[in-house]
Amino acid sequence: MQTRVLTGITTTGTPHLGNYVGAIRPAIAASRRDEVDAFYFMADYHALIKSDDPARIERSRLEIAATWLAAGLDPERVTFYRQSDIPEIPELTWFLTCVTAKGLLNRAHAYKAAVDKNVAEGEDADAGITAGLYMYPVLMAADILAFNAHQVPVGRDQIQHIEMARDIAQRFNHIYGRDFFVLPEALIEEQVATLPGLDGRKMSKSYDNTIPLFAAGAKGMREAILRIVTDSRLPGEPKDPDSSALFTIFRAFASEAESQAFRTALEEGIGWGEAKQVLFERIETDVAPMRARYDELMAKPAQIEAILQEGARKARAIAVPLIAELRDAIGLRSGEAVAVAAPVAASVPKAEKPPRFASFRDGDGRFRFRLFSGDGEELLLSQPFDDPKAAGALQKRLRTLGGASAVVQTLADGTMLELDGVAVARLETGPGTDAADLALERLRHALDQLAAQD
Ligand code: TRP
Repeated sequence: MQTRVLTGITTTGTPHLGNYVGAIRPAIAASRRDEVDAFYFMADYHALIKSDDPARIERSRLEIAATWLAAGLDPERVTFYRQSDIPEIPELTWFLTCVTAKGLLNRAHAYKAAVDKNVAEGEDADAGITAGLYMYPVLMAADILAFNAHQVPVGRDQIQHIEMARDIAQRFNHIYGRDFFVLPEALIEEQVATLPGLDGRKMSKSYDNTIPLFAAGAKGMREAILRIVTDSRLPGEPKDPDSSALFTIFRAFASEAESQAFRTALEEGIGWGEAKQVLFERIETDVAPMRARYDELMAKPAQIEAILQEGARKARAIAVPLIAELRDAIGLRSGEAVAVAAPVAASVPKAEKPPRFASFRDGDGRFRFRLFSGDGEELLLSQPFDDPKAAGALQKRLRTLGGASAVVQTLADGTMLELDGVAVARLETGPGTDAADLALERLRHALDQLAAQD
């Protein structure tokens, strides 16, 4: 069963070493795992909240795309796209806005901090605060819910936003009476290092203490490393690795053995200048080949564009049918909407991806799962279970059942899949009179695929 992992990168800056170690490297590593279906995107609508400088946004989008690709992101494996290429995201933002309590947004940390600052300075509470900042969490919820992501890797500062996305999703599901949305979970990578910057505080653009990753070239990186603050111990004097930013950064790149050797060198009194050279060379071993790819990509923006367009196509193949279903559910059904959605969905090549299960806990804390076809269509929703093992056992059984053995019955609350005479899951039926037949057809196909896998 694949887990859909989704994260966004706000396109306002140039990636630095801290971004690489803390976000880019772990995200790319995660995307290579078989059980992960990764969606990584450039949050350029979010960037507009932070910056009204078009040149900066444009530059940052390009640099970030080139950086992730150069760092090893495989666009065949990962759905890699720009938020602003997916018109379904702002559309969903509005649907979600209309079920979001204003009070929830009042409590968002970023907005509250801005208000508190105004009040402390004797200004009007909302002085200089855009509605964009206020709506930030809803846009972010739409980013996640448009693809029904299960896990969202984020920094600690973003946990509240994921909680809000869950809240909003739950409310929508409740109001419209169906589990349209998977409730996403924040994924906090505990073992990932936070790098210190030049001054020893956390490396961050807002402290202006960063070491650029690619954009400044090897020379710029070396110059930045030479500016890392150290104590005044002279060559020959022992140095304390554990209080040194140099050592912390080194360790984020080096093996255990290399780190041990560097530790010994510091304790035996290597000069800071020489130690910085050692650090520079160690980082370069990893970064130089990626920088070469980065420079190549930056010289060919059309190539990046083509990759992102393909990413948008893959992403929309999932978002378009979901939005069509939502429009339907909320009373915005129109022949036109269906007609627009169809060609996009139809242009997707027949997916040979296997069906997948997605488990979650419902509003009552009980365990359920959905089954999705390889191209992301929801096929069924299980009954709730108090015991996660029971939900697991049912999934296991479905994996081997095979399409021919699927028995369904249409009851008051929908078309149900039955096993041994018990309704175990509800089929996802679309609109129309043949909907139940179609849903059964799709389910049978998926069960055959699953059975063939084992
Ligand atoms: N707000 C996130 C940040 O600043 C970026 C982001 C936008 C995001 N949309 C997202 C992250 C959706 C995860 C999922 O880091």
